[in-house]
Amino acid sequence: MLRYLRTLSLALILLGFIVQPAWSQAGKSPVKAKNGMVSSVQELASEVGKDILMQGGNAVDAAIATAFALAVVHPAAGNIGGGGFLVYHGADGEVTAFNFREKAPLAATIDMMQNGDGSISQENRHYNLLSTGVPGTVAGLVKAHERLGSLPWALLVQPAVRLAEEGFPFTWDIMNWERGLLEKVETDPIYQSTIDAFLKPGGIPHEPGELLVQLDLAESLKRIRDHGHDGFYGGETARLMAEFMSEWGGLITQEDLAAYQAEEQAPIHGTYRGYDIYSMSPPSSGGVAVVTMLNILEGYNLSEMGHNSAAYLHVLTEAMRRAYADRAQFVGDPNFNPDMPVDWLISKEHAEDLRSTIDLTKASESDESLFNGNEPYESEETTHFSVVDEEGNTVSLTYTLEYGYGNSIVVDGAGFILNNEMGDFNPKQGLTDRTGTIGTDPNLVAPQKRMLSSMTPTIVAKDGKPLMAIGSPGGRTIINTALQVILNVIDHDMNIARAVEAPRIHHQWLPDVTSFERGYISADTEQKYRALGHELTFRGAQGSAMGIWIDWETGIKYGAADSRAYNSRAIGY
Ligand code: DON
Repeated sequence: MLRYLRTLSLALILLGFIVQPAWSQAGKSPVKAKNGMVSSVQELASEVGKDILMQGGNAVDAAIATAFALAVVHPAAGNIGGGGFLVYHGADGEVTAFNFREKAPLAATIDMMQNGDGSISQENRHYNLLSTGVPGTVAGLVKAHERLGSLPWALLVQPAVRLAEEGFPFTWDIMNWERGLLEKVETDPIYQSTIDAFLKPGGIPHEPGELLVQLDLAESLKRIRDHGHDGFYGGETARLMAEFMSEWGGLITQEDLAAYQAEEQAPIHGTYRGYDIYSMSPPSSGGVAVVTMLNILEGYNLSEMGHNSAAYLHVLTEAMRRAYADRAQFVGDPNFNPDMPVDWLISKEHAEDLRSTIDLTKASESDESLFNGNEPYESEETTHFSVVDEEGNTVSLTYTLEYGYGNSIVVDGAGFILNNEMGDFNPKQGLTDRTGTIGTDPNLVAPQKRMLSSMTPTIVAKDGKPLMAIGSPGGRTIINTALQVILNVIDHDMNIARAVEAPRIHHQWLPDVTSFERGYISADTEQKYRALGHELTFRGAQGSAMGIWIDWETGIKYGAADSRAYNSRAIGY
């Protein structure tokens, strides 16, 4: 049967190529296509998604295939060992979302991110197996397929199996990580399984262009291909994961895996200047925060202020400051925070109250009433992709392992990297500080709870039709990246590619400082912005946004893959 499907799909793809050329691009002009489009961080994965569209798959089918392909060709963040969120807007007006965020294991405890003396354990948060939450990706993709998919499941997983089994050309961006494993294993043998899975026989690192073959991962993917949800949360994969956990000090058991379920839930809905904004609901803070900021900013004439003028950057910063303070105070897993005031947070009235505290002539200070105490860093590895099919059905999907390559630990014999998402829980009750550590109650660790996320897969719509899909990696900067791409399109009249490429800023309440992408702000704008009372730092690239815009009049889909990402590509046909 599978062989038949494979031959059939190959024939259809070849036919598709003959009838319809494919178009691809990363950079400042969007790529145009009449039928479908996939924009992702890795061209091989975009290609897989586009092929599924060409075989008659819908946007959800293509998203599933792209997600599995990314788990092979973009191991920094593409995954089956992590979790994420999918937001969907059908051409028929149906809107829904899937929450497949990881969960804390059953044996998790509120203080498991601390050492015996109460200090925060960075080991437990980010590096050892206590940092791993119960993975959600496979459950989420299966659920989305059951609800909205059209092609057979096996057909969607098979391209990833092929990429893992036959290999793909090793890319420069994986090289440093792979070589670093050789150092890590010298002090900790847990990384031997990662070396076995990724390096060449004898532990020799790949050179760019050599084929990276992942045979254990191919076997895990085959079990998913053949048995769906149970092919990951039960059987051989579950046994391998649970045994590995118990051998190396992790908490996840077969019971944890058997209990994991993804959830379909309503996305956050807001409006902005006549557009509908659909974005991810809690346990992601993305939707709440992006809608709060848009509500605040609706009160200003941003286009008149001009893109990235000091006046514009000022109100942007003030909106960010306020939304991120709300985020810290109120947002967590809704299953554990039944009284979370989401409706109030995203209301126009609340935004009006927040806007009334903004002084156009000077910066506010971040309200530090929650602040009490120290510690930094938020990783920026995650991945977002957007898909639109021929009918205009639209998927916006962000998923992650948290850090690049998660905790870099591969389940021995199963070939996939584990997430370190437990670091997204607040590590210590009451400890909120200027460096960005948050200790508020809604996001403390509890068994089976989902950790708060910033992932912001978003769809902008009008009159019941999806217009734009957007999202990005970037830890807490994700929300601000999505926000600025949306503003670039709606207020600054940019096409999707320019909107994605334009330089961005980030403020997150605490620390009270705004980061700018280095090299893009003029000296006089910087001086005016500082004169308003803002502190400013410079950084490298902020996120990598992958977007698609649909022109319903012509039917043309415009794709944009952020050139900040090394191998990104929007591919349409
Ligand atoms: O869920 C979150 O918000 C984070 N774990 C995402 C991490 C992230 O974006 C790192 N990447 N770029």
